[in-house]
Amino acid sequence: MQSGKIVVKNLYKVFGQNEQEAIDLLKEGWSKDKILAEKGSVIGVSDVSFSVEEGEIFVLMGLSGSGKSTLIRLINRLVEPSSGDVFIDGQNVAKLPKAQLIELRRRDMSMVFQSFALMPSRTVLDNAAFGLEVAGVGRKEREERAMTVLKQVGLDTFAQKHPHELSGGMQQRVGLARALAVNPSMIIMDEAFSALDPLKRREMQDVLIELQKTHRRTIIFVSHDIEEAMRIGNRIGIMEGGKLIQVGTPQELVDNPANDYVRNFFDTVDTNRYLTAGQLKADSVPLFVHNGQAPDALMVCQQLQDMDKHYAFVVDEFNKFKGSISLEKIALLVEDGQPHSLDAKVLKHIDCIPEDLPLSEVIERLVDNEGPIPVMDEGGFYCGAISKGRLLTRMQGD
Ligand SMILES: Nc1ncnc2c1ncn2[C@@H]1O[C@H](COP(=O)(O)OP(=O)(O)OP(=O)(O)O)[C@@H](O)[C@H]1O
Ligand SMILES: [Mg+2]
Repeated sequence: MQSGKIVVKNLYKVFGQNEQEAIDLLKEGWSKDKILAEKGSVIGVSDVSFSVEEGEIFVLMGLSGSGKSTLIRLINRLVEPSSGDVFIDGQNVAKLPKAQLIELRRRDMSMVFQSFALMPSRTVLDNAAFGLEVAGVGRKEREERAMTVLKQVGLDTFAQKHPHELSGGMQQRVGLARALAVNPSMIIMDEAFSALDPLKRREMQDVLIELQKTHRRTIIFVSHDIEEAMRIGNRIGIMEGGKLIQVGTPQELVDNPANDYVRNFFDTVDTNRYLTAGQLKADSVPLFVHNGQAPDALMVCQQLQDMDKHYAFVVDEFNKFKGSISLEKIALLVEDGQPHSLDAKVLKHIDCIPEDLPLSEVIERLVDNEGPIPVMDEGGFYCGAISKGRLLTRMQGD
């Protein structure tokens, strides 16, 4: 079986009288519109298969009516599937007895909606603690846990206020706190931030991204907003007419859209903004290895001239970055009659940038730094370089 925290297999949802007939007709190639016109059944979700990894934010996008809300409700079985399977932690949700299902939803799966439905007569703290109250957690413990999550969303000082004393964005944060309080491993968010103005929405996205750094949860996030999807999504799934048309990382979808429908989503987006150091790096800087013995200055000088390059990087035998040196600097060393070896004291120290550093910060670093900048992978090993020239060519679409 395909692995993943959430695995969806050949899932269908038909709203109408004869669900199986509609599915058979879909399999025969009938369109969603034809089935509606001739059989009166609405196809909500049609043969959808995908999986969401533990700790991933998976964003579902698609035009209105494409089946996003239906799909996420099928996952927690607020909507009964017409056919197909949903596995959560390897467990078939469709086969769970009702009581266990309710337990799963209550303890391990929170939902956050656009209308956050706070209870006006209760304090912020009591609203945040509501899920725990329903789960039968005692007052002292639930208030402590609610306070902890209110801190996480930056609302602890408002704990004793009532919802009407809060702005829309703050109310949405209470909604998020309520979802987090039960400490679920999964959160399903349906257009959770859509009612907020752009600034508040960004702020909530930041809260979510920050939270995800400390507590990695599996999140399915429905959004209309491509900028939002690209900002928070590890992967994005695009739905059209009940079908999941394409799944991929933001960059994969931008680079290889499956069709015009997918491409259109990205038309308005300045996709360069989403580039990271890892996508911008190249093997453009000559690399020399200091394996106990520093590289010879004259040899490096000669090779740089042969390659028409101005800079060299030096790494140790494990591929950890040691420093950079320019052709000019080597020339000076050689002129001065200094020892002909490029050891640590003649190299220029540069902090490596991580592969996931976004373009804006890469640019800042390039502005501050004369030559190219080294990039390191997750293990801290050198994996490429970014120069100003390289950045400009990449942004032109090369
Ligand atoms: N309870 C229902 N009864 C009948 N049809 C439904 C029901 N719920 C959804 N549908 C239909 O299923 C299709 C998918 O709807 P869904 O709400 O999942 O779309 P969506 O992608 O979430 O749209 P939106 O972006 O507007 O929220 C639509 O054609 C809708 O009319
Ligand atoms: Mg919806």
